Amino acid sequence: MTALRKNREFTADKPRDTAARSPRLPRYTSYPTALQFGPLAGQDHVAWLRALPADEPVSLYFHIPFCDQLCWFCGCYTHIANQYDPVSRYLETLLAELALTSSLTGRKKVSHIHFGGGSPTILEAGDFERLMNAVREAYEILPEAEIAVEVDPRTLSREKVAAYGRSGVNRVSMGIQDFDDKVQKTINRIQTAGLIEDCLRWFRTAGIEDINFDLIYGLPNQTQETIRETVLQTVFYRPSRIALFGYAHVPWMKKHQAMISAETLPGQIQRQAMFDQARKTLVDCGYQAIGLDHFALPGDSLIEALDDGLLRRNFQGYTADKADTLIGFGASAISSLPGGYAQNSTDMRVYRQSIEAGESPVVRGVAVSPQDILVRQLISDLMCYQQVDPEARLRESGLSYDFTREFRALADLTRAGYMDRKDSMYRITEAGRPYLRAICSVFDNYLPANFEENPDILYRCLHESEG
Ligand SMILES: C[S@@+](CC[C@H](N)C(=O)[O-])C[C@H]1O[C@@H](n2cnc3c(N)ncnc32)[C@H](O)[C@@H]1O
Ligand code: SF4
Repeated sequence: MTALRKNREFTADKPRDTAARSPRLPRYTSYPTALQFGPLAGQDHVAWLRALPADEPVSLYFHIPFCDQLCWFCGCYTHIANQYDPVSRYLETLLAELALTSSLTGRKKVSHIHFGGGSPTILEAGDFERLMNAVREAYEILPEAEIAVEVDPRTLSREKVAAYGRSGVNRVSMGIQDFDDKVQKTINRIQTAGLIEDCLRWFRTAGIEDINFDLIYGLPNQTQETIRETVLQTVFYRPSRIALFGYAHVPWMKKHQAMISAETLPGQIQRQAMFDQARKTLVDCGYQAIGLDHFALPGDSLIEALDDGLLRRNFQGYTADKADTLIGFGASAISSLPGGYAQNSTDMRVYRQSIEAGESPVVRGVAVSPQDILVRQLISDLMCYQQVDPEARLRESGLSYDFTREFRALADLTRAGYMDRKDSMYRITEAGRPYLRAICSVFDNYLPANFEENPDILYRCLHESEG
């Protein structure tokens, strides 16, 4: 048994002013979360890659940080490309990074590939195929692998979709956000239903059947009525999976979001009502709610993973991917390795120069301890299954850990009616559902300072309903 000390320190580079201005708790797509990332030496990243278990399949993530036009709500890491040259140049660096990384990992089996952004659809058809061919040369893509692309419908074409089909892409996530004209205008993202229908036809022709829709609630000028219409229109197209993200308005971090006036944003109560209504409509229409913000139809791999106890959380949200290792490629991409999290430089020039010098482009990250891995499992149990049995997970881990603080908070949540308890299992009740991430934060040993100073779990719930 290993006795471990709980680490309640903050890393030096934590953006304190951001934490002060944004009381939001993390969405727990990782643990420790990105708030804990600090400087990480390239050689640590290299050592972690070299130490990957030989026969275990891995997942790959490729970040394409370019878009044609800036959406005012965007919280992603991207650049506006007025010409194709920077994209071409970036692709060359990405290919070089792939060669560099595979020389360290060897030719591993791959169970899952995800192209995210920005907008991967900005890549021309031939360039996407070139990248996929390079991946096939560097790694062994398993026959059952999922190959997914995030799609901006406005930059898609029949040729690009045909190239995806030839390259083995079998899932696409379409950035829909909202179908309402007025909302689309306020977020600087006009895309007609006709365009979405063209894309769906192209996917069908290319044999791509697994379609996700990304929707956002809490956008400017959205009302209960517009959200209802957007959800009904979505249901009409019957995507197999839907992500319904809460709009994150952080204009102090994403300057362009200042184009959205705060007065046009729905308040917390309205946001919650929008989410609840959308959830009810989707469930009534045959979708199963999954975790914080996902919905899927029976037969979708997310439902199968949920039923098999294999649902997990990753940087894209929820996933059926079984691999323990995710290798990220591209500027700002994060790798999740057994040794820890490692993030490539977000500075395009630094990223390119590192690769050209044959060096790791990683600049930030955090090593994970056995204690972090235990807590990650507990948070994942809550995020994916809305229940947690800390003692059972502790026994499985073989660690020793003092849960006094956590049990006190769980008892408070139980008294408030947000959780119920059967033996050593705690379950989130219907009344506790809006407080999912606050409930997860019970186990978080690195809480943002504003919550650290106010450790009462019910205070955290009050300030952190999912709306
Ligand atoms: C990289 S984008 C998807 C691909 C493509 N760039 C697009 O927008 O169609 C990933 C998704 O993140 C979500 N997103 C972006 N900014 C957000 C924000 N500030 N708050 C909540 N969700 C956001 C959107 O739903 C978006 O579809
Ligand atoms: S939401 Fe998507 S298309 Fe819009 S700017 Fe962000 S990454 Fe680009």
